[in-house]
This record gives sequence, C-alpha cells and structure tokens, in this order.
Amino acid sequence: MPVRTAVIPAAGLGTRFLPATKAIPKEMLPLIDRPSIQYVVEEAAEAGIQRIVLVTSRGKSTMEDHFDLAPELEAALEAKSDTRSLELVRRPAQLAEIISVRQKRQLGLGHAVLTARQAVGREPFIVYLPDDIIRHPVSATHQMLSVFERYKASVVAVEDVPRERVSSYGVIQGEQVEERLWHVRGMVEKPAPDQAPSTLGIVGRYVLTPEVFDALEKVRPGAIGEIQLTDAIALLARSQPVYAYQFQGRRYDVGTPQGMLRASVEMALEREDMAPALVPWLKALARRLEG
Ligand code: G1P
Repeated sequence: MPVRTAVIPAAGLGTRFLPATKAIPKEMLPLIDRPSIQYVVEEAAEAGIQRIVLVTSRGKSTMEDHFDLAPELEAALEAKSDTRSLELVRRPAQLAEIISVRQKRQLGLGHAVLTARQAVGREPFIVYLPDDIIRHPVSATHQMLSVFERYKASVVAVEDVPRERVSSYGVIQGEQVEERLWHVRGMVEKPAPDQAPSTLGIVGRYVLTPEVFDALEKVRPGAIGEIQLTDAIALLARSQPVYAYQFQGRRYDVGTPQGMLRASVEMALEREDMAPALVPWLKALARRLEG
C-alpha cells in the first residue's frame, strides 16, 4: 500500500526558542521567508503525500490558518494585481489536504502520534518532526519511501552522531544489512553515552506501519516520564522487521536559535534571489572577523 498520509507532531511548547515562542508556535517562525513547518509540508507534498495530519495544541491555530485560504488578503492582492504575492499566499493551501487533531495534554511524542490514529486509519504513514529540516537533492522522504517500498517494513531515519551527544536522541541497536541500512534489534531513548548501543541517533523522519499504534497503546511512560515513540517502535521491532536508514543530506535543528540561524544562512546561499547579495556581504563579514 502506498504511503499517502503524513503526521506532523507540532503540539510542543517550543521552550528551546523562548521568548520568541511565548505567543507564536515555533513551527511558524520564519526560515528565510516561510514558516519552518512549510518546508516540511513541501517535502511531503513533493514526494506525493496527499494528507497531512497536524497534531496541535492550544494557542497554535495560526498553523492551521497558514495552510488555509485567506480570502481578504487574496482579494486585496487581486485588487492590486500583485500576482507574485498571490501565488505565495495561495501555495500553502494547495500543497496537501491538511487535517488537524488536538493533543489535549503533552504526554510525549508517542502520545502525539497516537492522537493521530483515527485520522491516519490502518495504513502506513510517515512522521515528520518539524524541527528537523533535511536538505539533499533527493529529499529524505524520497530516500525513506524507496527503502519502505523495497522492504515493506517500517523505516526510521538515523544519523551518526558524536557519542557525547547520544543522550539527546533515540539510539538504535541493529545489524547492518546493506550500505546505509540496519535491521533494528532494539532502540533506546536518550541513553547515557556509555550505555548507548551505537551512535546511530534517530532523526525526525519515520515511515511506520499502522501496527505501531497498537504498540503505542501498550507502552508505558519511559524517558522523562513521557510516552516515547522510540519505545513503541522498539516493541514493534519484536513482531515485525524495522529498519534504520542513514539518510543522505544535511540536517538542521530549527527548534533552536543556533540551528535556525545556520539553516537560514545556508539555505539562503542556495537561493538565486538571495545569494548574489548575501555572498559579498558574508565575505566582507569573514574578513572583518579575521582582521
Ligand atoms: C525526539 C525523539 C528522539 C529523536 C529526536 C530527533 O526527541 O524522541 O528519539 O532522536 O526527536 O530530533 P526530542 O528532540 O523531541 O527530545
């Protein structure tokens, strides 16, 4: 069965980005000229995902507005014949069918995904953690879906991370079956560096079979008292194959000011409308820093 639905957990408080996120969802902070969540929705839509289930919470309804039509704004732009702005305003609503479900209590990432159960139904789906922006000519979604199509099994994205940083990640234990691919035997959420089974940390892209929902119903709160998606996938791996795929590409954690800044600069350098002005300015800045 093709993967046609994505789940984007976006109910968190964004505490790593305060005070910017006091009244604005962190997913709505601009990465150059678009809310960061739009890049993730674009990555999904470009790979053929038709339905996106946003898991939201109180105070985050601007995300739903962003992916909706904006009749007054469109009418004003039409009156001015500003077709360029009109296209930019209409695009988010054209990307996919957006459904939103509310996570009423913040009980963890696993709980957020479980909240989307009814909206997803009994079919495979892809989870995007919107803090993780991944750049590569072949999108991370395409890479993950091609593994899913070959193995017909759940696939989590992993990255080799420095051992001293493993306690920020879910970490996999597995045996390598081909280049970039491991058969998962176990997974542990946020292990201490000396207890981590590997240095392969989970990054925010997961293609999952619907049986993960049954596993999510069973797992108890784990690391930091939350229902962990990692624990549910580890449980799933006991009854069906699960793979870890080391994706190609560069990842930015835009849930922090540092990560957002780096992503902004590097992605602006890839853009024809930004790079010509940015490059000489950056070069002059580098000279100033060196001098
Ligand atoms: C979550 C997951 C973790 C994963 C990480 C990737 O943790 O629980 O397994 O490695 O995202 O960004 P969080 O960053 O929400 O603490």
